[in-house]
Amino acid sequence: TRGATTDVYEMRMREADVEIVKGLTSRVRTFDGTFPGPTIKACQGRAVEVRQYNDLTVNAAVHLHGGEVHSEHDGLPMDVIAPGGNRTYHYPNKQRAASLWYHDHAHHLEAENVYKGLHGLYLISDAEEKKLPLPRGAYDVPLVIRDARVETDGTLRYTRPSDCPHMLVNGKERPYFKVAARKYRLRLYNACANRYIRLRLADGTPFTQIASDGGLLERPVQRDELLMLGGERVEVVVDFSRYSVGQSVVLENTGALPTERPEVLRFDIDRRSTDNSEVPARLSTLPPVPRGTVERDFELRTFPAMTINGVSYDPDRVDVATTVGSSEIWTIRNVEAPLPAPPDFHLYHSFHTHLTYFRVLERNGQPAGVRDSGLKDTVCLGPGETVKIAMTWGPYTGQYLYHCHQLGHSSGGQMGRIDVN
Ligand code: C2O
Ligand code: CU
Repeated sequence: TRGATTDVYEMRMREADVEIVKGLTSRVRTFDGTFPGPTIKACQGRAVEVRQYNDLTVNAAVHLHGGEVHSEHDGLPMDVIAPGGNRTYHYPNKQRAASLWYHDHAHHLEAENVYKGLHGLYLISDAEEKKLPLPRGAYDVPLVIRDARVETDGTLRYTRPSDCPHMLVNGKERPYFKVAARKYRLRLYNACANRYIRLRLADGTPFTQIASDGGLLERPVQRDELLMLGGERVEVVVDFSRYSVGQSVVLENTGALPTERPEVLRFDIDRRSTDNSEVPARLSTLPPVPRGTVERDFELRTFPAMTINGVSYDPDRVDVATTVGSSEIWTIRNVEAPLPAPPDFHLYHSFHTHLTYFRVLERNGQPAGVRDSGLKDTVCLGPGETVKIAMTWGPYTGQYLYHCHQLGHSSGGQMGRIDVN
């Protein structure tokens, strides 16, 4: 339903039977019966309210990842909806256009809940973006990529990522997608609970990246390969007019294990098409990089336990106290040593902040490169890596979180509390 200034939705979190792998039925946890959940399209300046009913047998909390929302509506780990309960989340949508997603965040349960299906898309548009001649409508396609283990009886089993050989796109295993010979905007999400993906087009055609977690970049950049860790978004334009009708091109994951198939999705070019879309040389203007005056250090460990600065999450402990408007530089270190060969997913950390976007200033002592460009809310740290990020806290006061977005890690306590006053 639509109010004067607010769009109102209702969803029921419930179990449902879906087909993920052809011919098999899997019992999953859903928002409203679909796997993944329904996509919410929001516009800047128009609020959204979602009433969530929990018809599951486990706690759930709904977090809008990338949302600039009040703490009460953030879906904090202890602020759960018990089975049989419901609550309404309010999203003001005062932020710029960006590809967000919503997912469960119940303490200790988020990894399994998200893995079992509690995630959906939330896309915000704004006037600036609508004016650009980018591909739109049927040519603007979100691709939510995640792994899974589907047993031969259809059971979707939550297990470690090296035992999850099925790559899903929008809830289906290795689908194919019929495309016209023209430009498409692809909104890529890594929604894996516990692993990185490295995406490339099998024929080596580079992607034109136009946006990252927090929306449009200032200028498009060319990328051959996209390393994405859980929670990250990369938006690209691919021009399929370089292929002829009848050809196919495969999106592959070069981060797949040797025992897995690298194919993620096959694009079949099946028709000619007119195309008035373009990727302008200038896309947007980003807010100035915060000039941090407060510096903080964070050390992420996998061994002997999932910790940040030596401790695991305690909802009653304030790890960082700050104020609205505080401009900060955070140095994040992944102190684990690299392994000579994969599987090394558990050694990666995906540092995510709630409430605010940040800029990546440096990676391993060097100025941030193209892979870290734009506004980010999640940044990938390989074993031994260090990044420096800058953010300004606010505009809302309240309790927020930072954590690793490898969800097995956050469930295991790799998470901290920040109080913004
Ligand atoms: Cu997408 Cu706190 O997470
Ligand atoms: Cu981690």
